[in-house]
Amino acid sequence: MWSSSGLKFEASLTFVCQINVTVYETLLGRVLCIITGASRGFGRTVAREVSRLVKPGSAIVLAARSGDDLRALRTELTESEAGRAGLRVESVVADVGQTEGLDGIIGAAKEAFTEEVDHVILVNNAASLGDVSRFTTSFTDLAEVDAYLSLNVSSCLCLTARTLRTFPQRPGLRRTVVNISSLCALKPFSSWALYCTGKAARDMMFKVLALEEPDVRVLSYSPGPLDTAMQEEARSRTADPSIRKLFCDHFSEGKLLTCEASCAKLMKLLLEDGYASGAHVDVYDL
Ligand SMILES: NC(=O)c1ccc[n+]([C@@H]2O[C@H](COP(=O)([O-])OP(=O)(O)OC[C@H]3O[C@@H](n4cnc5c(N)ncnc54)[C@H](OP(=O)(O)O)[C@@H]3O)[C@@H](O)[C@H]2O)c1
Repeated sequence: MWSSSGLKFEASLTFVCQINVTVYETLLGRVLCIITGASRGFGRTVAREVSRLVKPGSAIVLAARSGDDLRALRTELTESEAGRAGLRVESVVADVGQTEGLDGIIGAAKEAFTEEVDHVILVNNAASLGDVSRFTTSFTDLAEVDAYLSLNVSSCLCLTARTLRTFPQRPGLRRTVVNISSLCALKPFSSWALYCTGKAARDMMFKVLALEEPDVRVLSYSPGPLDTAMQEEARSRTADPSIRKLFCDHFSEGKLLTCEASCAKLMKLLLEDGYASGAHVDVYDL
């Protein structure tokens, strides 16, 4: 039942996306877009959708650790209509929790940048769930917690800061920074201490950035429950039985969103550009 209505839904979304391409295509501009966690799930969908909404002469930098998946996506985008029209696609095998990983991403972005670029977009999408099989009082190991926060908070701050410094404000250049957030930034979930902490910290970090850098467009986008590897992990590993049941019920009742459906809403937000900078916008608000 879900699959047949889901198919219809996706078909109508595809139609909406095509309409957007026609009406708004030029509005994202000649873009340099950096997407972390582009090897699968939501990040891969964002890469595909952005590629359809940019002017020729744009570039996309895809980053994640899984080289084969990144290269497959790079080939797909390079051979797509956008690729044939001049979209440059670079893939960077990088662990964003490591300084070398951030160096690689910034290096690739610098190489891909041209004077014609009029919009730099950074999508901070890479994240991990952390160990949700334990409760808060089990996190006694400083190194374990630091490693989680390094990947999920510090890397996001440092990549954003380095991107904005590498491509400073200048006339004619728009800069947009997207934080892929979660309901967990706002609401506590039992046995999800690391994830909730990381997402809440990121939201606040981006609110501060929006205050400090009024010329930068800053968006925390909460994509909703997505049918991805992260959800599978949530269903199989969550320690709190009622939270685990919630995720299992969402799955069995067909309540998960496709990455395409959620991403279409993110693209609409970026194209319309009407959100308050620093805001947390949930897919269900739209
Ligand atoms: N799924 C949901 O229901 C849901 C709900 C709300 C918010 N979100 C958020 O949406 C975003 C995407 O989630 P998803 O569901 O698509 O997750 P996913 O399927 O697990 O994908 C996560 C992505 O992050 C990358 N990544 C993980 N660790 C990395 C590292 N150390 N360095 C570089 N890249 C790394 C992964 O690539 P590699 O493994 O190749 O490195 C992968 O591309 C996340 O920010 C997540 O918190 C998801």
